[in-house]
Amino acid sequence: MNTNLTWHDSVVSKQERSDKKGQKPCVIWFTGLSGSGKSTIANTLERALFERGHHCYLLDGDNVRQGLNGDLGFADEDRVENIRRIGEAAKLFVDAGLIVMTAFISPFRTERQLARDVVEDDEFIEVHMSTSLEVCEERDPKGLYKKARAGEIPFFTGIDSAYEAPVNPELVIDTGVNDIQACTEQLINYLVEKQYI
Ligand code: ADX
Repeated sequence: MNTNLTWHDSVVSKQERSDKKGQKPCVIWFTGLSGSGKSTIANTLERALFERGHHCYLLDGDNVRQGLNGDLGFADEDRVENIRRIGEAAKLFVDAGLIVMTAFISPFRTERQLARDVVEDDEFIEVHMSTSLEVCEERDPKGLYKKARAGEIPFFTGIDSAYEAPVNPELVIDTGVNDIQACTEQLINYLVEKQYI
């Protein structure tokens, strides 16, 4: 990193921003296999929070990879960089006073830990979408598992690229067992109980 740089504190503090919004900003970090329900639940949660008057934003893997991270592929080092950038972007959203949701496979523990480390301890909520590979593959919403099994997509997570499940996530959600509404309620209840909203 360039050493001739100086950090400039914003004249409006994070506390002032969050007070005005009536919420405690945080990162809700969804991690899990492709097809595990990350985007679905994050979108439903975003809508529910919005309806309650909260200020939030969703960073979604498939979307961000078409823009900010359009230069990255799926080799391990690219996934590492993908998550590093999202961790930093999420931190900026938290500083802006928002509840930011991220929906990325984020397969490696080390990078998820780094994303946790760039914000304050109580600003990171790791949500493990624990939906089994069998269920994800059965759903195969984008037809990618089929292609991966046919050898058409190399390094596909769960097939020939690793997924390291979280050891101590704040929440575990299985969309193979519970419906969308129940999963979203689980999240809302957590946010209320811990006084984020
Ligand atoms: S991550 O591993 O770097 O966190 P990310 O969440 O951004 O992945 O992108 C995953 C999405 O990219 C999947 O939902 C799927 O649509 C698509 N994709 C394309 N190739 C792969 C691959 N080799 N492994 C996993 N997902 C892939």
